[in-house]
Amino acid sequence: MQIIAIIGQKGGTGKTTTAIGLAVAAERAGYRTAILDLDPQSNAANWKDRRQADGPAVESIQPGRLRQTLKAAEDAGANYIFIDTPGKSDTAAVDAARAADLVLIPVRPQIFDLETLSAVRDALRIAGSPPAYVLLNGIHPSATRSPTEQRDVIGNAFGLPVCPVHLSHRATFAEAPTTGQAPQETEPNGKAAAELEALFAFVDKAALNMPAQKKLAEARK
Ligand SMILES: Nc1ncnc2c1ncn2[C@@H]1O[C@H](COP(=O)(O)OP(=O)(O)OP(=O)(O)O)[C@@H](O)[C@H]1O
Ligand SMILES: [Mg+2]
Repeated sequence: MQIIAIIGQKGGTGKTTTAIGLAVAAERAGYRTAILDLDPQSNAANWKDRRQADGPAVESIQPGRLRQTLKAAEDAGANYIFIDTPGKSDTAAVDAARAADLVLIPVRPQIFDLETLSAVRDALRIAGSPPAYVLLNGIHPSATRSPTEQRDVIGNAFGLPVCPVHLSHRATFAEAPTTGQAPQETEPNGKAAAELEALFAFVDKAALNMPAQKKLAEARK
């Protein structure tokens, strides 16, 4: 079982959007998938209430129950767990990162988001420095700096690796969750869907290099 934590130290950076999009991508790739929603706002759990398709499972839990819930998910045969966390909560972010095989930190490419990355770095250190990538989210298609330039600037300034895949600002990301869906389902041939599938391919490739790789390779339904 691979555990992907999605954390940050700011609200509204795209954590839930990323968790939902990646969980749907994992399901579509044939993995048994669940989202653990550590956010008292319960946006991911509410998304699941609006959803008609069966998977992914979504469970709303308190951070204190994370360890037991992960154990139960592993016993039940889950392949991928995505942990969604609140906007600003040191405990939940650290607990999620400590449990994770890989951490994603969505940020908008704006200084108010970026300047929170030093706090994220501290949280990651406390969590035992799991592999972690900043995920640029909401890049405007007509931004003056290319995503590659933005990645370089951010990587150099904040000392955290930046994920080679980014998510652009696209209406589908905001619209699909209204009906309990993800962009891959509402616009399967759209650009948002392609970005999420590329992001999941990156995560899955990273996961295959993690210790549990053999188990995961054999896990597809
Ligand atoms: N790439 C994107 N393009 C367009 N809209 C986006 C994108 N990413 C996120 N949004 C929208 O921005 C808002 C915040 O996103 P989201 O809820 O995923 O952030 P969050 O980090 O989970 O927030 P919180 O910290 O409150 O839990 C939502 O309305 C979402 O639909
Ligand atoms: Mg959220």
